[in-house]
Amino acid sequence: MAGVKDVRPPFAGLGGRSPEELFGALPTPCYIIDEAALRRNGEILAEISRRTSCKILLAQKAFSNYDLYPVLSPFLAGTEASGLYESRLGAEEMPGKEVHVFCGAYREEEFDELLRYAGHIVFNSPRQLEKFGPAARQAGKSIGLRINPECSTQEGHPIYDPCAPGSRLGTTRAQWEENMTPELTGLLDGLHFHTLCEQNSDALEITLEAVERQFGDILPHMKWINFGGGHHITRPDYDIAGLERCIHTVQQKWNVQVYLEPGEACALNAGYLACRVLDVLQNGDTRIGVLDASAACHMPDVLEMPYRPPLYGGGEPGERACTFRLGGPTCLAGDVIGDYSFDLPLREGSLLLFGDMAIYTTCKNNTFNGMPLPGIFVLKPDGRLRCLRTFGYEDFRCRLGSGNK
Ligand SMILES: Cc1ncc(COP(=O)(O)O)c(C=O)c1O
Repeated sequence: MAGVKDVRPPFAGLGGRSPEELFGALPTPCYIIDEAALRRNGEILAEISRRTSCKILLAQKAFSNYDLYPVLSPFLAGTEASGLYESRLGAEEMPGKEVHVFCGAYREEEFDELLRYAGHIVFNSPRQLEKFGPAARQAGKSIGLRINPECSTQEGHPIYDPCAPGSRLGTTRAQWEENMTPELTGLLDGLHFHTLCEQNSDALEITLEAVERQFGDILPHMKWINFGGGHHITRPDYDIAGLERCIHTVQQKWNVQVYLEPGEACALNAGYLACRVLDVLQNGDTRIGVLDASAACHMPDVLEMPYRPPLYGGGEPGERACTFRLGGPTCLAGDVIGDYSFDLPLREGSLLLFGDMAIYTTCKNNTFNGMPLPGIFVLKPDGRLRCLRTFGYEDFRCRLGSGNK
């Protein structure tokens, strides 16, 4: 898309240079992590910690490209993990920092090893607390329980709503009443909730009111509260002052250490997926571009969430002269990224650049249909590119069998 300048936040890091200029020589598809954008996010988060003394953790489920941890580490208190492997990654790749773990259910055979890596362990249910809490206490860990304040503040992303009726995530007040004993409550150092998804601080404020209604009698006995993730802090319109008010209110009310564990906000708009058009088709009124990147394999949240990724030089359908439906080369009929319009028609070989591709991509991609995994590159602040890794046939094959020839 030479000639088009796109300075929306997802592409601000290009500094006015075109994707072809910057990334035209890279093998596609590939991810490019923007180091300067990552640092800017870190700076915003660090300022909030400095002003409020809350501690902010990187939720590694969203972004776990550990080569870049040294960029984020100075700004953060540590990492948050979803289980054993992420705990180990956080402990080893962000050394000297806190490691917190929350898992829907821990396994007996992994728990001893987990105790080596994690300093804070959050349980999902009173039963898990009963089963593993005493060992965690013995090992000197800080222990938390995830609560479910039963307060849904978002619409449109039902798979990201842990407060939906019948949710398995977090302990409701009714479950607490039924299952918690004074001994179990005595094991707790903190409460954890995670209910938001790409939300502003007004949703947090509403959630905190629900937390107070449901668990306000427990919080005076706690040392910390973890507000989970889903705070879209580094988005330009995020109300940071509102977040800081929430933190201060909670600190004053309950004298607790506040933790936040955003994933998206740490690496928001800090990466790209470069790909090329392999074929151009026309089916009735629909013009189609088949890309060498796949929604299902390389940006699965596009289908799961679902969401429409920003595309450099790409407008809404009909907004610019030529509208194309963009899809992947897989057999999945629904492997469609979306309909986008361009000033000029796409051609075989056109380079396309999707934005906001550092989060929930490299840590979530797959090789369905034998799709190659995109390489991972870093855009350095001085404009140089560094290759972290490329992948090949063996990376596909090694996960599928014995490895024997
Ligand atoms: C327990 C927990 N913490 C933190 C996060 C990070 O959320 P986000 O990337 O939306 O900030 C998630 C996301 O699912 C989560 O489940």
